[in-house]
Amino acid sequence: MSEPTLRVLYGSQTGTAQDTAQRIARQGRRRQLQVQVLPLDSYNVANLISESLVIIVCSTTGQGDPPDNMKNFWRFIFKKSLPVGSLSRLDCAVLGLGDSSYPKFNFVAKKLHKRLMQLGASTLLPVGLADDQHDLGADAVIDPWLTSLWANLFALYPSLAEVIPLREDEAWLCVLVLPPTYTFHFLDDVKDEREDRLRIPTEQTAPSQLHPFPSRLLSNRRVTDTSHFQDVRHIEFDITGSNIEFAAGDVVMMFPRNAPEDVQQFCQLLRIDPEARFTLRATDNTAVPARLPQPCTVRHLMERYLDIAAVPRRSFFELLSTFATDELEHEKLVEFSSAAGQEELHIYCNRPRRTALEVLADFPHTTAELKVDYLLDLFPEIQPRSFSIASSLQAHPNRLQILVAVVRYKTKMHKQREGLCSTWLASLNPEQGDVSVPLWVKKGSLRFPKEKDTPVIMVGPGTGVAPFRSALQERIAEGKNANVLFFGCRSESKDFYFGSEWEEMMKAGHLSLFTAFSRDQEEKVYVQQRVRENAELLWDLIANKGACFYIAGNAKQMPASVCDALKEVFQQEGGVSAEEAEQMLTAMERTGRLQSETWS
Ligand code: 2AM
Repeated sequence: MSEPTLRVLYGSQTGTAQDTAQRIARQGRRRQLQVQVLPLDSYNVANLISESLVIIVCSTTGQGDPPDNMKNFWRFIFKKSLPVGSLSRLDCAVLGLGDSSYPKFNFVAKKLHKRLMQLGASTLLPVGLADDQHDLGADAVIDPWLTSLWANLFALYPSLAEVIPLREDEAWLCVLVLPPTYTFHFLDDVKDEREDRLRIPTEQTAPSQLHPFPSRLLSNRRVTDTSHFQDVRHIEFDITGSNIEFAAGDVVMMFPRNAPEDVQQFCQLLRIDPEARFTLRATDNTAVPARLPQPCTVRHLMERYLDIAAVPRRSFFELLSTFATDELEHEKLVEFSSAAGQEELHIYCNRPRRTALEVLADFPHTTAELKVDYLLDLFPEIQPRSFSIASSLQAHPNRLQILVAVVRYKTKMHKQREGLCSTWLASLNPEQGDVSVPLWVKKGSLRFPKEKDTPVIMVGPGTGVAPFRSALQERIAEGKNANVLFFGCRSESKDFYFGSEWEEMMKAGHLSLFTAFSRDQEEKVYVQQRVRENAELLWDLIANKGACFYIAGNAKQMPASVCDALKEVFQQEGGVSAEEAEQMLTAMERTGRLQSETWS
């Protein structure tokens, strides 16, 4: 059998599946396979019929959905018109990345694997189900899965095994022989102002990830009391002329930026001039990232494109180790790259949430040796962040508002940890000239009823209230006045967001509000308690008036506790058994009458 090209295709939401796909590709290239790595939606799916060797790495997002960059592929592959047996030439393997604390653990990988089999593909090995909840991280599943993958593949293509007889525990070495994906070609001239030019979308197109709309920041106001532990911002953008439309439940997307001081430190460590300009050239047939201007300055690349503030992955250490000439640094980096060193790496990096930049500072000799050409291989791309939209166009035409908790916390690291996007947003000051924030919007998972008389019950503690403010504004503008909101926060005087707005809605007869201020008294009170206390009302709305029930928020236990409370309501008021209450809840979920949007 002749050697086929190995396609490693991925569906990745946060970049982990992409990183894993690239790792598989490196291992394949080291074995002298022809490899192509692509996001699933950039792959011409019709070619699958003539393909012989494909590995798919995909994650599962919150509600069991496929990542954005495989949505088209997903629709295609499940088309009923695809003939059974159409993939009979294909040998494939599917590796899923998931989190078993979510109910639909690795749903996408499992379903895809089944479908490929149904279409006649042969499988190189059983579907891999990596789990973020595993004590040793996803690698605990990925590493043995990869070992089996190569073994099975070589059994199928024996000629390959003879080519590269490297041992599996030397896997980290693979990067050594590989050229960078891109080379940098530095220019001598000075900065070209066009580079920072804002791309104004044409009239017809809605802004998108590639063409975000440069909104103007109008306000950035802290809505928690200064004595409160958390800094929460109510931020407003001007989207006049953007063609952006959204409905309640939709989300706004944006790319965060690295802090200027981090970029400066990075450039100092690598001894590169942030103002230097370069053009990128791909060393193989990989496309140059469309999001990077050409030419581009080092500052632009580091501030807006490469993620130096994230906790680095194992692949980062694998590549870094190949630059190490200092003996001690080399030894440590090789350990962190090896399967045996993963616990050490976890303790060094993941637990204290050490950033890639901090790691570079810990390995100064190696960092000074780094070749600029490898920057795009070393650091993942900054991923876009999403926020539930907290306003409606009916109430605030040409405006888009969000409610953002600024993520800051302590670990054993001396410097406090900061969320990249929320910290960047919090740093923006509309009073310091025109501040532009490129953004676009995406359909969210929450859908609100069209029928005027269908009541909605919304449970949104903390910033979970954001999509419900949008829904309330929209519904009230449309004359939909059967609205119930359960809101929870720590204290009425410190973090009761939009209190005066709710009061006005209540006065006008558009809202019933129930609050749970968890720390304003001795005993903690949570929203689920308020749900239980209002069993009669809720039962009437759900059982007799067809109400829809929504949960949003970021407390890990909260959604499950609210569902438990709801089941108790059904049992108490409907006289049903625990089992029947559970079935009612499942039925509501299936029919879209119970929806949730949670984040961590
Ligand atoms: P706490 O911080 O006092 O525990 C918004 O964050 C509100 O949600 C706060 O009042 C917070 O209370 C509360 N909260 C925390 N954990 C929760 C849970 N498991 N269920 C419901 N509410 C919770």
